[in-house]
Amino acid sequence: MMIASEVAPFSKTGGLADVASALPRALGRAGHDVTVVTPRYRGLAAGQWLADVSATVAGTTFTASLFTEPLGPGARVLFVDCPPLFDRAGLYNAGGQDFDDNPLRFAFLTIAALEWAAAEASPVQVVHAHDWQAGLAGAYLSQHFARHPALARVPTVFTIHNLAYQGIADKSWLPRLGLGWDLFTVDGLEFWDRLSFLKAGVNFSDAVTTVSPTYAEEIQRPEYGAGFDGVMRRRAPALTGILNGIDTDVWNPASDPLLPAPFTAKAPAGKALAKRAVLEAFGLPVTDGMLARPLVGIVSRLVDQKGFDLVAQVADSLVEMGPAFVVLGSGDGRYEQLWRTLAARRPDTVGVHIGFDERLAHLVEGGADLFLMPSRYEPCGLNQMYSQRYGTVPVVRATGGLVDSVIPWDPATKKGTGFLFADYSGDAMLGALARALDVFGRPAEWKRLQQNGMKADFSWDRSARAYVKVYKGVIAARRTRRPKAPVART
Ligand code: ADP
Ligand code: GLC
Repeated sequence: MMIASEVAPFSKTGGLADVASALPRALGRAGHDVTVVTPRYRGLAAGQWLADVSATVAGTTFTASLFTEPLGPGARVLFVDCPPLFDRAGLYNAGGQDFDDNPLRFAFLTIAALEWAAAEASPVQVVHAHDWQAGLAGAYLSQHFARHPALARVPTVFTIHNLAYQGIADKSWLPRLGLGWDLFTVDGLEFWDRLSFLKAGVNFSDAVTTVSPTYAEEIQRPEYGAGFDGVMRRRAPALTGILNGIDTDVWNPASDPLLPAPFTAKAPAGKALAKRAVLEAFGLPVTDGMLARPLVGIVSRLVDQKGFDLVAQVADSLVEMGPAFVVLGSGDGRYEQLWRTLAARRPDTVGVHIGFDERLAHLVEGGADLFLMPSRYEPCGLNQMYSQRYGTVPVVRATGGLVDSVIPWDPATKKGTGFLFADYSGDAMLGALARALDVFGRPAEWKRLQQNGMKADFSWDRSARAYVKVYKGVIAARRTRRPKAPVART
């Protein structure tokens, strides 16, 4: 059983949704049986009713109906339908303001999942919790289900998709969420005298994973640890980095219904049609000159993590450099404004769409020549992998999953799939882009580079096998332990 606060295509603000959908399906294809428990947010069809659960949290008794909806063979979603908690204008916030009962909302999601599992005739074998929203799963299992016949020995795996989102709440929440003060310790869920759902996930789970091997290393260092590097070093023996895959059905240029025409490495003509379509969609001139000019795509949350301060540093040089840009994203007002200003200044060079738009995301991946991702940090990143599949060459900062999924182009061997820069500086970013543009000017070489990326294997099957290994490891470790042993508090 997985617990995740977003699952594509039902709800999505970022890559977690893609992973919480594609991983269960890959596991299902491999013969496992996976249920992903997630909120039924506003506007979602319910699926088929399965059961009701209720629990008292923070003094109020909430009842949720659980509805099931298939995700694929062996995989299904279980929607927790509790309108007072989830029927809201946004997933986590509205009007830029986090809901102040988020601790309650996501604690209830986790409790509902565990209560459902506790009542099931065939017990779950592993609880796999994603990000801070599901961070209390291990703590609840150890506090409330330690004597439960089916759940007492069930191990928890916790996956960190982003260490910067730490689920911090005032410590007064602890008793209100039904957790004892004995957990409020430095090796429990206390973080600078507050409660951290993320820390609970890290400390009360049998295994911790994150979404790339490089990020697993980085987060043990202060520069990338977001205050958690000590916590991560302490849990290093239980920590594994597993690179995300991509959903190769949804992101497949050979069959993508959101592109004007399909294309493949062998029959690439449709890519030119996608370029035409994306220029048009972003209000850029559709001329022979523009079709020949390199086009850089960006699809991103517009937040500090994604490196847009580098763009701000060198904005003038960037837009004078030669290529045109199509930018799709939303987030911090100042970065939205940055791109709007650049588009207003150079309407022939920069096309911007502020918002979240699945169709445009596919069109940018399909139609651009290069994809820019200058992340300050990147746990995994999915777009650089989508890009490669669509023959769109990534230019990325050498951090986290970007290091593990983009191979630097080597003109001597004709190997590699993109361009990386290490220094977190605007000039280093411009340098990498210049190297890419140089190769763009040599069509035979460029074609080889595109083809290398299009051939790369980012399917989930390999990563799913790595998760199965982790699941098997924690199940075996639990079997050899007494059922009442405290969880992971070494
Ligand atoms: P993160 O989860 O940190 O935002 P990822 O690269 O892992 O970064 O995943 C981002 C996902 O969200 C991708 O599937 C990407 O296509 C999608 N996405 C981000 N911004 C937008 C947007 N404005 N419109 C459509 N899709 C978007
Ligand atoms: C997070 C990270 C991103 C990762 C995604 C899915 O949102 O920021 O790098 O790809 O989770 O794991």
